[in-house]
Amino acid sequence: MPQLNIFVLFVTFLLVFNNQAYTANAFRSQDMRHLAKPSEAPSPPVWPEQFTAVLLQNRKNAYSLTELWYDFKGGRNMNLIQSQLDLKGTLFDLELDNKTSYYYNKEAGTCRTIEFPVGILRPEWLAGARYLGQQVIHNISTYGFTKADGFITYYSEVAPPHRPVQWRFFDGAIFDVLIWKDGNIMPEESWQIPGFCFSKLGRQYQGADSVPTLNSYLRQLQLDTANKGIASGRA
Ligand SMILES: *[C@@H]1O[C@H](CO)[C@@H](O)[C@H](O)[C@H]1NC(C)=O
Ligand SMILES: *[C@@H]1O[C@H](CO)[C@@H](O)[C@H](O)[C@H]1NC(C)=O
Repeated sequence: MPQLNIFVLFVTFLLVFNNQAYTANAFRSQDMRHLAKPSEAPSPPVWPEQFTAVLLQNRKNAYSLTELWYDFKGGRNMNLIQSQLDLKGTLFDLELDNKTSYYYNKEAGTCRTIEFPVGILRPEWLAGARYLGQQVIHNISTYGFTKADGFITYYSEVAPPHRPVQWRFFDGAIFDVLIWKDGNIMPEESWQIPGFCFSKLGRQYQGADSVPTLNSYLRQLQLDTANKGIASGRA
């Protein structure tokens, strides 16, 4: 019977070995959960000084495809908001760090100038956001953050370089990031403010109030958080 004994030993070895391997895996997955503990919260993302993003914007079931050109170095920021099937045309939302914003529609030749009390968003505008833990958004593992009592919730990829995946506002507006490119800045001629924005005869763009854009929201947030002292990282 020595062959049977060897076989029994072999099976016993396999069972013990497999069990150990299983235990090792269990330890690894526990380590992963451990990483997600709020006590070891990742710090809120800081935006690069220049980037381009393509966002799918869903605002109370009104969809638009938005190109966001962020140029903090240049003190300017452009949102090109293209409505579904072009039914409402394209809204250009140009924001300058000197606190003037221009909302215009090139086809209609309408423009509206708005003075803001604050400049464009700072790259570190998420500083002081509260960490919400990990969440899966569209099957992507993300870190969740919220700022200003849920005014905005922001999800960035767990995998470096932690690109944003989605952000949402308290009123239900959802922005999904479809494309994110660092340092890819818009051609200079596209930053030119159209002449009709400076013409006394020019017609006013009417939609800017009813189409609150990413940055009018966020600039308001920046203002709110500055007022509440949250921007200084006390949240
Ligand atoms: C900001 O810059 C733009 C473009 O140069 C100019 O038209 C606007 O008057 C400036 N706003 C302020 C408040 O200086
Ligand atoms: C979700 O992600 C997992 C892991 O990366 C992958 O295996 C799975 O196919 C994905 N599911 C969908 C619907 O994309």
